[in-house]
Amino acid sequence: MTERFTGSFTQQEPIPDEAIEAALAVLQHGRLHRYNLAPGEVGETALLEQEFAEMTGAKYCLAVASGGYAMATALRAVGVKPGDKVLSNAFTLAPVPGAIASVGAVPVFVGVSEGLTIDLDDLAAKADKADVLLLSHMRGHICDMDRLMAICEAAGVTVIEDCAHTMGAAWKGVPSGRHGAIGCYSCQTYKHVNSGEGGLLVTDDEELAAKAVMLSGSYMLFERHLAAPGPEVFERVKYETPNISGRMDNLRAAILRPQLRALESQVERWNERYQVLEAGLSGTPGLTVIERPEAERYVGSSIQFLLLDWPAEDVREALRRCAARGVELKWFGAAEPVAFTSRYDSWRYAPSEPMPVSDRVLAGIVDMRVPLTFSLEDCAVIARIIRSEIGAVWQSLTD
Ligand SMILES: Cc1ncc(COP(=O)(O)O)c(C=O)c1O
Repeated sequence: MTERFTGSFTQQEPIPDEAIEAALAVLQHGRLHRYNLAPGEVGETALLEQEFAEMTGAKYCLAVASGGYAMATALRAVGVKPGDKVLSNAFTLAPVPGAIASVGAVPVFVGVSEGLTIDLDDLAAKADKADVLLLSHMRGHICDMDRLMAICEAAGVTVIEDCAHTMGAAWKGVPSGRHGAIGCYSCQTYKHVNSGEGGLLVTDDEELAAKAVMLSGSYMLFERHLAAPGPEVFERVKYETPNISGRMDNLRAAILRPQLRALESQVERWNERYQVLEAGLSGTPGLTVIERPEAERYVGSSIQFLLLDWPAEDVREALRRCAARGVELKWFGAAEPVAFTSRYDSWRYAPSEPMPVSDRVLAGIVDMRVPLTFSLEDCAVIARIIRSEIGAVWQSLTD
């Protein structure tokens, strides 16, 4: 009998009971706005910031409305102005070039390696083209951060990290988001903690932190933050920094705090699933599994593999066959972006030069979500289906 998978690739786990209770408490008292506090009360949002700062080892943290807003705020805080160029990954998703465009700046795309990280040789070659790099740890793949920081430091490039897919991950034990000047995270439903929408930003730089708080719309109530610098730092920036409202609210923060406490064990559960998939896929003829470097602590909330140098119609056929058996795969080689895929040349507002080496990699990237609602057995079934369908198409290709 042909095996089929019947689970959903977009079904997350329920919000934990503890988070629901905390959310209900906020709903019952009605003080959802982060600065709406009873006398002596410390709000959920300020506590979330304090806890996330502690968890990442950052001095300062700001909770905001989305990961995209966190990145735009970071770009503004480091001084990116309309017309400036900003280096960023050719392999990432639309909110990243979108954040650059939102401040009127122009992305300069840097290529992707076969390990799905930013191509560091290409970065070294382009580092003199901009003062800022918005580095996307796309799909959780972390590049050699020592080399990246050395390239950027030598070229005077400020690094902002997009950690939408690396909350809970690390490079040589340093949490993702803590190498650059600012780390940005997303708390959107498909990420590692789920408040529907939401974002977090961390930094050790007091002036960047104060500017980010002002930018997010603090109505001069910055003293109600627990993970922000002292008022003397705000004195230096408060009349120079516009209010571009994008705060987090107490309801989302209440939902997030218990999820952050459980992050470590969730990461382990993701990685168990990832490892079952990886073991099931490795050795499939025609399919390249992405090797994970020793120094990387990843979060296997999605898995990618390469169908390198396959003709497009055969990739489409392999994906069609997997889909017919219930396995939803995304392909970064399609001519037009569809559902959560996109490529540097799909963003027509951002001019790009052709990148043939990266195009070869992008044309082979196949991507799959790994929600925690999948059991380990589900992962084994999915791997068997991919293996047999991709193997069959590869066989017909090589006959
Ligand atoms: C690579 C990447 N960066 C940033 C974001 C931004 O997150 P948000 O949806 O919270 O704005 C996303 C969201 O999908 C993403 O995939």
